[in-house]
Amino acid sequence: MRLLILGTGGMANTHAENFAKIDGVEMVGAVDVDPARVSAFAEKHKIANTFGSLDEAIAWGKFEAVANVTPDRAHHPTTMQLVKAGKHQFCEKPLAENHALASEMADAAEAAGLINMVNLTYRNVAPLQKARDMVLAGEIGSVKHVEASYLQSWLISKQWGDWRTESQWLWRLSTAHGSNGVLGDIGIHILDFASYGAGLEIDHIFGRLKTFDKAEGGKIGDYSLDANDSFTMSVDFSNGALGVIHATRWAAGHFNDLKLRIYGDKGGIEVLHTLKGSWLKACTGAHAELAEWQEIDAGKVPTNYERFAAAVKTGRNGEPDFRHAANLQKALDLAFVTEKQRREAAL
Ligand SMILES: NC(=O)c1ccc[n+]([C@@H]2O[C@H](COP(=O)([O-])OP(=O)(O)OC[C@H]3O[C@@H](n4cnc5c(N)ncnc54)[C@H](O)[C@@H]3O)[C@@H](O)[C@H]2O)c1
Repeated sequence: MRLLILGTGGMANTHAENFAKIDGVEMVGAVDVDPARVSAFAEKHKIANTFGSLDEAIAWGKFEAVANVTPDRAHHPTTMQLVKAGKHQFCEKPLAENHALASEMADAAEAAGLINMVNLTYRNVAPLQKARDMVLAGEIGSVKHVEASYLQSWLISKQWGDWRTESQWLWRLSTAHGSNGVLGDIGIHILDFASYGAGLEIDHIFGRLKTFDKAEGGKIGDYSLDANDSFTMSVDFSNGALGVIHATRWAAGHFNDLKLRIYGDKGGIEVLHTLKGSWLKACTGAHAELAEWQEIDAGKVPTNYERFAAAVKTGRNGEPDFRHAANLQKALDLAFVTEKQRREAAL
């Protein structure tokens, strides 16, 4: 697969490192509107061709697939351009700023018969995949209750950089710069983590969003810091189970921690993923009577990067696809409605 990397900021490095390890993948070009960034990136990852715009790269045309690692609001226009050019796509999350735009992207890619996948990174977590298999095999019985959280602390820690001075953090705090805050940034991950792990669709949500004061006048330079940085959500699932899902950038002591607990009428499962590793614990069968938890080895699973490369090779779309990400986007959109109306909404 001849791959173009579109957007060469922070996350593009993770794409390049992962794609470089896959046999048969050749990174043939890189695009960024920032000339210095694209040259440094191309040099670091040994990519021969660089472009200052997607138009230039499409005019050149010698690639068949694209990893779209641009900021959220660039996903829709660039994807639509790439669909017209007939290119397979692996797009970063969230797919777009809202459900309408995300659906348009899914419709267009499907109509053109192109491979379309979204990088919901935590599908790469083996304990999540194993938890889902166990739930679907009936090991915890009928699911009644789900608890999921995604905790980050970059608003109080400089471990990943300083949001007060660095543009890659500031755009995430500003709706005018295309961000839906913590909800759009990591909310989409934890909604997927919870519903995929539990093997259930989300039916209704009641979300609350909060933007805390962070700078004088709520602004730093051109950036109005108005995007939410904490959310809580109560949900119910397709089988009637209840759940609570929440995320924040204010969780001191947690750099990037996802936790999922699924309880059924025969047992429970816990998945924990942090920068230090991932764990799966289960309390099933006779152990449920005594509340005894066992650690389970979940093995290894292919990454989204590997599954995208395989999808392009075989011509069969992989998961998670644009349609799935567009459906999740519905829940994100509705959280803004429920925050305003203070009542639940159906998906
Ligand atoms: N899956 C994950 O776990 C994960 C993690 C981090 C970021 N992300 C996502 O990756 C995307 C990029 O995030 P980032 O942290 O790398 O941001 P970033 O700001 O560091 O990098 C984005 C780059 O895209 C460039 N760019 C902007 N518009 C462009 C356009 N039209 N054409 C070409 N280049 C353009 C910018 O100049 C910048 O270099 C976001 O959608 C973000 O949500 C996903």
